[in-house]
Amino acid sequence: MIILSVETSCDETSVAISIDGKQILSNIVLSQIDIHTLYGGVVPEIASRNHTKFVLEVFIRAINEAKIKISDINLIAVTNGPGLMGSLLVGVSAALAFGLANNIKVIGVNHLLGHIFSSNIDNDIVFPAVSLLVSGGHTDLIYLEDYYTYKVLGVTLDDAVGETYDKVARILGLGYPGGPIIDKEAKKGVSNIKFPVPKVDLPYHFSFSGLKSAVLNKYNSDIKTNEKINISDYASSFQDSVLKQLLSNTKKAVNEYKVNTLILAGGVSANSALRELFKNEFSNINLLIPKFAYCTDNAAMIGRAGYLMYLKNKKTNDEYILKTYSTARFSDL
Ligand code: KG4
Ligand code: ZN
Repeated sequence: MIILSVETSCDETSVAISIDGKQILSNIVLSQIDIHTLYGGVVPEIASRNHTKFVLEVFIRAINEAKIKISDINLIAVTNGPGLMGSLLVGVSAALAFGLANNIKVIGVNHLLGHIFSSNIDNDIVFPAVSLLVSGGHTDLIYLEDYYTYKVLGVTLDDAVGETYDKVARILGLGYPGGPIIDKEAKKGVSNIKFPVPKVDLPYHFSFSGLKSAVLNKYNSDIKTNEKINISDYASSFQDSVLKQLLSNTKKAVNEYKVNTLILAGGVSANSALRELFKNEFSNINLLIPKFAYCTDNAAMIGRAGYLMYLKNKKTNDEYILKTYSTARFSDL
């Protein structure tokens, strides 16, 4: 089945062409990072305007690069949530219009399932599995019985982990997006500052806002007292505290649920220290980490998740009332 998939939930305009979401014929990702860097973060209104400006061009490039004809396409898969409402609407409208014009069915895809099943593009999942989903908007631990049965074990009670990286980078004057910059900086430093590792009473849940405040307070106090500030050591110490929390919750879930597979997914799964740590700590189970191109937002992962959702009940949303939603709704799946 040839699938055209579309992802516009945040600030990447992406269209992919694949066979069953496995064989990726093209995966065009147009990032708006350069534009949003000027503001220190994603500006929703600007993001949706730029999706509108570039979405057609990205469709054309994806189809041309895949060397297929429009008439070859059997299914359109599009992210319809969660994400920025204005951004989602551009992708969904484009997908529906393209489907209507070319008589191709359209299916809405949950962005978080896209991230989780990005691991399934190049690998098989042996169920049951646990997924640690770490992105700019989410920090979730999810138990997967099979492709279609999920239980959310834990979520963040405040900031998401990617958001925390971005905010801490801002505090340290490192620019946007903070994740990759802190990743790089941390390699040059040593973890010699004792930042707290938040303890949450609810099992499997996460919290990052206290850690963010601790970095801010230490930084401000160091400036006030003219303390010598080593940004790399700050980055390394902050990251150490983040990784400790991610590891301890994930270990608990893997052991308690006796899973065969652990899936690391989402933009933060591109983090080199996190990838290394998980490879060392989970060498005894099937650990799936998507390759870099499938970690941050991309349409290839939406193609794979869309194909799996389509297989489930062969139903699409072709009545053209595909609904968009801004918050996570795992419970509805
Ligand atoms: O999955 P994603 O592209 O978008 C959302 O769905 O949110 O994730 C973006 C997040 C950003 O917060 C970014 O700073 C973070 O992923 N990120 C990283 C790295 N690369 C991207 N965080 C830590 N280390 C990285 N190497
Ligand atoms: Zn994402």
